Amino acid sequence: MVDLSSRNPDWWRQAVIYQVYPRSFADADGDGLGDLKGVTERLSHLAALGVDALWLSPFYPSELADGGYDVADHRDVDPRLGTLDDFDAMTAEAHRLGLKVIVDVVPNHTSHLHPWFQAALRAGPGSPARDRYVFRPGRGRRGELPPSDWQSVFGGSAWQRVPDGEWYLHLFAPEQPDLNWEHEEVRADFRTTLRFWSDRGVDGFRIDVAHALVKDLAEPLRDVSEFGSTGEEALERVPPGTHPYWDRDEVHEIYRDWRKIFDAYSPPRTAVAEAWVPGARRALYARPDELGQAFNFEYLQAPWDADALRQVIADSLATAGAAGASATWVLSNHDVVRHASRLVLPPGTDENAWLLSGGHAPRTDAAHGLRRARAATLLMLALPGSSYVYQGEELGLPEVADLPTAVLQDPIWEQTGHVRKGRDGCRVPLPWTTGGPSYGFGTAGAWLPQPEWFGSYAVEAQAGAEGSTLELYRTALRLRRKLLDGETLTWAEAPEGVLHFARSDGWRCVTNVSHVPVPLPPGEVLLASVPLPLDGTLPPDTTVWLGA
Ligand code: NOJ
Repeated sequence: MVDLSSRNPDWWRQAVIYQVYPRSFADADGDGLGDLKGVTERLSHLAALGVDALWLSPFYPSELADGGYDVADHRDVDPRLGTLDDFDAMTAEAHRLGLKVIVDVVPNHTSHLHPWFQAALRAGPGSPARDRYVFRPGRGRRGELPPSDWQSVFGGSAWQRVPDGEWYLHLFAPEQPDLNWEHEEVRADFRTTLRFWSDRGVDGFRIDVAHALVKDLAEPLRDVSEFGSTGEEALERVPPGTHPYWDRDEVHEIYRDWRKIFDAYSPPRTAVAEAWVPGARRALYARPDELGQAFNFEYLQAPWDADALRQVIADSLATAGAAGASATWVLSNHDVVRHASRLVLPPGTDENAWLLSGGHAPRTDAAHGLRRARAATLLMLALPGSSYVYQGEELGLPEVADLPTAVLQDPIWEQTGHVRKGRDGCRVPLPWTTGGPSYGFGTAGAWLPQPEWFGSYAVEAQAGAEGSTLELYRTALRLRRKLLDGETLTWAEAPEGVLHFARSDGWRCVTNVSHVPVPLPPGEVLLASVPLPLDGTLPPDTTVWLGA
């Protein structure tokens, strides 16, 4: 059994971390937006679920141009979400319940409302204040063209012109100007931020777009059209470290510096990189003298296919192991289509086109999606390493694919000129009760409309209900705590379309990803993702845990 107690410095290596998206979790003050008091009031749900930690997406002052990832002050709480006292109360209650607290750090950019950016706008071209960001003159005779062809992840040019004629870089929304990490004040300020939250008792950090901080700003700026693609996909094809703004080698120096801060605390603060870069390069962020972990999105992106899953699992364990890191697993988060829907989209489906069709083309079968989601979750929770679960997946929530476009809040929708629908469908406020004004989310409405079917997925509907997805998660997490052991697995022989492996103490996991029933291997059934038939078979889209 692995020691997950509060003093164990390695608690994070095989933990289950629950992602709270604060504005959609619970609304204590009835303004339609989730808040920190709401989180505190609902922490008992996380304790009963049996997770080890919660990770909070940003709750800092923000105009919510990108759901809080546009931070105006990294060391405060947005007044609509509460106060620093509310944060302290939440942390104290989490710790009382045995839950660790992880907060998001957004070092690549600030909000355009950040005092630094406001000062930069006022100070004008060539000023030291502009040097904290990436300002450049434009190309063209009158500087009317952007300084390079760099593209925003959310669509369009990554450069925005200001009235005095200069341009500034924003790899995300125009309201999110990129910081200049060559500037010592920027580095010093983030050290202060890490200490600020660590001193308040925070146990770890999730580092937003960890692979973007350092850019090649040598003049002339290099265009990215030569890479054939402007997104992170280009990284699959270019020699490592050569892209002008993704995954540059110099970024690791920053994380080695941060590690010294993390290690000055007892137990050391933990960190996980959000870095959408290919496997071996991703593992570099997770080295023990850097962040320790990096999100592994390859499991999330893998098709529901036994060979593909086996390969991703083996590769992920190998690359994490080679870096001295523990592996991580993710099926859903606030940026992707919820896995209860995604796993039944036919291979090759354009997820954006599906969202634009309101989830009608192709039509997905919710029951089948839930069945696969439950199987994928039990498989994930049996793997060595840490699992990150996203709020609502423990309820089996599908994507809300048919949000009317008039209510969309994700900047992607506007920034792509209504071409990409964005990520709101996985951010709809949680249903806690089967009825009521916002299904128990708050006393009034919710900032995104909840569909009528939400009530049937509510915590209230599932708590104590035999066979519910919530009870499956609770049982799985309880068992996992008892069964967890070393960070290795051994593959066992299995029919085609089936994954079968054993953990070091003999606990086994078998997943049938094929379309036909297969013989159930011998052993005591500890848990199954759906009730098993009595004929000794393991049905399709089912995972079972077997005792030693
Ligand atoms: C990654 C976050 O998960 C996403 O929600 C955000 O839009 C971008 N980083 C920019 O901060």
